[in-house]
Amino acid sequence: MAAPAVEFDRVHKTFHRRFSEERFLALADVSFEAASGEVCAFLGPNGAGKTTSINILMGFLFADSGAVRVLGHEPGAIGAKQQIGFLPENFAFYKHLTGPELLRMHLALAGEPRNGGSRISGALARVRLNGYGTLKIGKYSRGMVQRLGIAQALLAEPRLLVLDEPTSGLDPAGRQDVLQLLLDLKADGRTVFLSSHILPEVEQICDRVVIVDRGHMVRAGRLTEMLERGDRVEVLADRMPEEMERAWAERGAAIARDSNGVRIVAEAGLKRELIEALWSAGSDVIAVTPVKTTLQDVFLQLVQDSEAPK
Ligand SMILES: Nc1ncnc2c1ncn2[C@@H]1O[C@H](COP(=O)(O)OP(=O)(O)O)[C@@H](O)[C@H]1O
Ligand SMILES: [Mg+2]
Repeated sequence: MAAPAVEFDRVHKTFHRRFSEERFLALADVSFEAASGEVCAFLGPNGAGKTTSINILMGFLFADSGAVRVLGHEPGAIGAKQQIGFLPENFAFYKHLTGPELLRMHLALAGEPRNGGSRISGALARVRLNGYGTLKIGKYSRGMVQRLGIAQALLAEPRLLVLDEPTSGLDPAGRQDVLQLLLDLKADGRTVFLSSHILPEVEQICDRVVIVDRGHMVRAGRLTEMLERGDRVEVLADRMPEEMERAWAERGAAIARDSNGVRIVAEAGLKRELIEALWSAGSDVIAVTPVKTTLQDVFLQLVQDSEAPK
């Protein structure tokens, strides 16, 4: 088995507030793994610690404790850097350059001018920016700038792409473009590790998700497993005996009575049992509707659980 692309093991990171003794806990006990060949999304609201984690995995910041490995290397090791393409969160490019000029500058900075021309045209073609050779970056749309940023990250033909909020600031069409591009890069055999605070869009493309909130792990795992476990079913019945309602509420079902009858939302796996119990109680089952969970639901549920008084 290949080493995981990214591995965090009980990582802690605190920041010192300037001119004060105060310490701020940015990451507390963060552990997860992203496998090679996957699209892994690192998710959480603003301030969750995503950029801090990415800076640690790139070797720009050091963790206080815990272990981090990237493609089997220490963060920042040359063997890791050679195989990683990186796009930071708030990057800015020289507006007076054209796309090819900018990429040429980046290649030169990386000390790799060999077959530079074909690398540049390959990277531009991958992000569908060939054909804009003479247009200055200052005239690019926001989406084009973002795609140029990804082209820059592709120059070294990396195994692993690390992208910090690659869709932020884009309109829906631009976001869709970038998401499709990330899927294309995965089809090329590359591993994509991206951060985002926009859960619904990432849900469309990722194999694995790592959810953090205020520096703490909320959940990590394969997306399909995370969503499956959350799938529920909504059953509408004409009535439900009170003791049955109490028993099902204890098992986590949400039950609401209205003029149409009783609406019961339970785990999908309990569907058959619930319907049979209703029939046995003499109720009529009017409708059964599967309720698909979204990543947003999972997140809200998990955050709610962690905030509930213990
Ligand atoms: N250099 C720093 N010094 C002090 N606090 C920081 C520093 N960098 C980040 N933080 C704090 O750490 C928390 C996590 O920040 P960040 O990793 O940027 O979150 P995210 O990328 O998920 O929005 C925030 O509360 C932020 O204010
Ligand atoms: Mg960030």
